[in-house]
Amino acid sequence: MSANKVVPLFFEVVVLISLVVTTCVSVKPSNRAKCLNTIKEVNRKGPYIGLITVFPPEEKAFFATQAFKPHPTHPFVDLAGRRFRVGKINGKKVIYVRCGVGMVNGAAATQQMVDFFDVKGVVHFGIAGNVNNSMSIGDVTIPQQFAHTALWDWLNPNATLDPSYVAHLDFKGYNVPKSWDGSNLLGRLGYNSEQFFSESGTPNIAQPLLWAQVTMHWLQIATNLEGMALEQCVNSSLCLKEKPKLVVGLRGSTANIFVDNAAYRDFLFQTFQVSSVDMESSAVVMISLSNGLPVIVIRGLSDIAGGQSGPNDIQIFGSLAARNAAEAVVQFIKKL
Ligand SMILES: *[C@@H]1O[C@H](CO)[C@@H](O)[C@H](O)[C@H]1NC(C)=O
Ligand SMILES: *[C@@H]1O[C@H](CO)[C@@H](O)[C@H](O)[C@H]1NC(C)=O
Ligand SMILES: *[C@@H]1O[C@H](CO)[C@@H](O)[C@H](O)[C@H]1NC(C)=O
Repeated sequence: MSANKVVPLFFEVVVLISLVVTTCVSVKPSNRAKCLNTIKEVNRKGPYIGLITVFPPEEKAFFATQAFKPHPTHPFVDLAGRRFRVGKINGKKVIYVRCGVGMVNGAAATQQMVDFFDVKGVVHFGIAGNVNNSMSIGDVTIPQQFAHTALWDWLNPNATLDPSYVAHLDFKGYNVPKSWDGSNLLGRLGYNSEQFFSESGTPNIAQPLLWAQVTMHWLQIATNLEGMALEQCVNSSLCLKEKPKLVVGLRGSTANIFVDNAAYRDFLFQTFQVSSVDMESSAVVMISLSNGLPVIVIRGLSDIAGGQSGPNDIQIFGSLAARNAAEAVVQFIKKL
């Protein structure tokens, strides 16, 4: 594909320019001043749509769409080791960053985006595991809400469950073969909700939050993407059996856990009625909401999170899922 040629070329240009761009987080106050000046220049042309993806395969898919046109004089700013790229998609001003895997990276990059740049909303995208048997690898999900499902109290087997838990998991329910009383020493997990601080709430007071809701208005715009053409083939010899679909309005689960386990997959679907699992979305959504910004999440399904019989499908279908998510992002920005 011609896209493969464009990506290395783009990176070469960026490497050349990087020689003259400084970073804000620097021991030298002179460099810091220069960087803050660049940010000021960039913001003068704002506001931007903030784009946040996670890891290199998703970034590759994003640049392969060829939709991102870097800013001619201020193509990027480096902040605390992350590269924020300035540019346009279909004439709309965007700032793009690859945050890195996990909730800490997702939250930190989102707050950096908001603190340093004039952004009017956040579009988060990437791949995810599929835990809903009515969804398929290659599908794109644009969920309505996300829960952080790993704020646990790890309890003894006999511990009583605090009513504040939003759910719990008993390890004894999973013993194979079942022991005479079903017990084991791993006990049970009590699931807590998040502590949500927000601009619109009372300062310094956190509210409990289980479901972080994406922005309704943006979700409505996203319904226009239903039915869009998605990639069905990894390459000329490997295609999905069915045409992938884009579904708006389901639920997602986020945790610092890569789920590749059928029993836990089933637990998450049954307990939280989530369709996808990932490691950043709820953090990006929560931090966007804290700052009062619109936010949406677009994730391509790369695997079935342990429901498969062989090795995880992410190795084979990850690139296809990333491409479909990136295409949906470009289409969404066009419609904004
Ligand atoms: C749980 O309670 C049972 C019955 O009282 C007791 O035999 C067992 O030792 C207790 N287990 C733990 C880990 O406290
Ligand atoms: C699972 O996916 C199907 C197809 O998109 C959807 O109709 C259904 O509501 C989902 N299940 C749950 C529990 O969200
Ligand atoms: C297509 O992709 C699969 C999975 O990565 C790989 O095994 C196969 O060799 C590829 N075929 C071609 C023609 O590139």
